[in-house]
Amino acid sequence: MAARGAFNSRLGFILAAAGSAVGLGNIWSFPFKVGEGGGAAFLFVYLIFCFLICYPVLVTEIAIGRKTQRNPVGAFKSLGFRRWSIIGYLGLASGVLILSFYNVVAAWSFGYVVELIQGNFGIGKNFGTFITDWVTVGLYGCIFMGATALIVSRGISGGIERAAKILMPTLFLIILGLLIYALTLPGAMDGVKFYLVPDFSKITGDVIYSALGQAFFSLSLGMGALITYGSYVSKDQNIVSAGAMITLADVGIAFIAGFLMFPLVFSQNLGTDGGPGLIFETLPGAFEAIGPVVGVVIGTLFFLLLSFAALTSTVSLLEVPTSYVVDEHGVSRKKAVWSIATVIFIIGIPSLLSAGTVEWLTNFIHLPGNFNAETGEPAFTSFMDFVGIIANDTFLPVGGFLIAVFAAWVWRKENLNEELAQGDEAIRGSLLQKYIDFAISYICPLMLGAIAVVTILDRFLGIKLIG
Ligand code: TRP
Repeated sequence: MAARGAFNSRLGFILAAAGSAVGLGNIWSFPFKVGEGGGAAFLFVYLIFCFLICYPVLVTEIAIGRKTQRNPVGAFKSLGFRRWSIIGYLGLASGVLILSFYNVVAAWSFGYVVELIQGNFGIGKNFGTFITDWVTVGLYGCIFMGATALIVSRGISGGIERAAKILMPTLFLIILGLLIYALTLPGAMDGVKFYLVPDFSKITGDVIYSALGQAFFSLSLGMGALITYGSYVSKDQNIVSAGAMITLADVGIAFIAGFLMFPLVFSQNLGTDGGPGLIFETLPGAFEAIGPVVGVVIGTLFFLLLSFAALTSTVSLLEVPTSYVVDEHGVSRKKAVWSIATVIFIIGIPSLLSAGTVEWLTNFIHLPGNFNAETGEPAFTSFMDFVGIIANDTFLPVGGFLIAVFAAWVWRKENLNEELAQGDEAIRGSLLQKYIDFAISYICPLMLGAIAVVTILDRFLGIKLIG
């Protein structure tokens, strides 16, 4: 087997994994989900899920990767459980599907950088038209996938780690600058209030489902991305504390993104319930109201932030199938990267066309139980949203469920604990380790299993369990 590459430093690993976690999920979907889920009430549930349910899965994934030094398919085989490598194959499928549509949204963000730098604030109102322009968006998508492939093709330390060491600090500086600016806007405090004062009556089954799904996706769990990154970590590192830092970085950036969004939105008297359009439709209006020069700077920086966040995430999504092909089939990294990126780009074309360009892809499928709330007529799901429901809402929780069951009951806790204590003996027998054990054995399988069951019953069979 060829040398697999490894992270050069602990910081490099933490930044790369945090880069995977921090993405469109934090800056695009987190704020609008907070907006829909009653502000602080959603935030509260989200934080609990991140630390109590997701963090144990995160360290378990890293432990499996570090123990085996393999990709998600090879990892289970090398532990001696061939049949469980189905988790790895499921992860590969999730990675390919997620990257195929994630790249389309990343292309929108990149396109917005190009538009805003030219002062085109009208792009917000024209969002619906912009995304149907498949030639332009397709070109941006090509560039974005190309940049992703370029980074991944340079390997772990020379590509992924190096990019993370540049992009993550830059991202942090941009978001801090924007935060300070947003908090000085008139009316900013109303936004902060909305964000931080909880209305617990808004916590419904739906909000809980959405918060856990969001937390899990945001931390890049359930498809072996962290098994893969973990496989490049050396044995002398404390992965329990590294995992805590990754979780904190991810939660911290999402938290700041909300802190930035609501003051901006409130200061311009715009609604918080923009849904997925909150960033692409509402925000350009807020930047325009700021004024010509500063508005261009702030707007451009914002979408640059979004694009950087997306880039370190697409890198991790591409690294998963790449590591599989390199480890298990002995293909060179360069060849693997460019061919996989091309295939995934092609798989993403229907998603690209399903934002209004092609009618049957836009109204792709009527899922049982999905009706227009006002008219009662059947509602249709686009191809892109459908892929999201399959990969994000179904495959990831199923993957997470299986990873937890595997680690606790098949590989067994003693082995997991042994790996967690590698690099820091103080972990052995600690309260934190006992909690991880307990969560992985009971809480995580239960909650992730519940998410998967709800998705299948609710989305695919139209049996309403949550309202
Ligand atoms: N976590 C990223 C985000 O919040 C997306 C992402 C990257 C991801 N790699 C992943 C999600 C692996 C699930 C699995 O945008």
